[in-house]
Amino acid sequence: MAVVAPSILSADFGNLARDVADVLDKGADWIHVDVMDGHFVPNLTIGPPVVAAVRRHAMDAFLDVHLMIERPDASVQAYRDAGASQITVHAEACVHLHRSIQAVQATGAKVGVALNPHTHESVLEYVLDELDLVLIMSVNPGFGGQSLIESIFPKIERLRRKIDQRGLRTLIEVDGGVKVDNADRFTSAGAHVLVSGSGIYGAPDRAAAIQVLKSA
Ligand code: DX5
Ligand code: ZN
Repeated sequence: MAVVAPSILSADFGNLARDVADVLDKGADWIHVDVMDGHFVPNLTIGPPVVAAVRRHAMDAFLDVHLMIERPDASVQAYRDAGASQITVHAEACVHLHRSIQAVQATGAKVGVALNPHTHESVLEYVLDELDLVLIMSVNPGFGGQSLIESIFPKIERLRRKIDQRGLRTLIEVDGGVKVDNADRFTSAGAHVLVSGSGIYGAPDRAAAIQVLKSA
């Protein structure tokens, strides 16, 4: 069974509490929260106050906060205080990635590192053992509704082998272009966690979409 994390980037921001509750009612495992700063990515979304609002309405749900921001170290505590269960930083945004990982760990949140499509997984060679999760971006971050980039499948497979060789429990999450009709390809390659925004919020039957993704 895959862990399914609907991305609220595709929710109705004017009815965010309703749309978060809806996917939780329909079987979502995590809520994926896309934080964008208009610098690291060419889009601007939400900050800690909105994460705190989601936390109030999501009760005890696992909030998977994906920081697509520059210099994340300065704000990881604010996202943790807002209710983040897990905080993922981008390797490309962290000059001192090991320090950024420590900054997240110091908050008490689980820690993930995200890799853009062009970034080789070898950047994790000396930090992989520290991580709860690796997020492999299957689109260029910034927007929902894009088509997946095919080159990420061998990357998932290589990372899967590396994690298994080291006997780690690190989860592999994929994000971008994940839909009911391609979810099996991600899990077959070795991903455990499927983020899907438009694939769930845009589905005619969200409950059915979540179930298909869970059984991928
Ligand atoms: C993209 C975000 C994704 C996005 C995925 O930068 O990180 O989480 O919401 O959207 P879909 O599933 O529509 O590709
Ligand atoms: Zn995301």
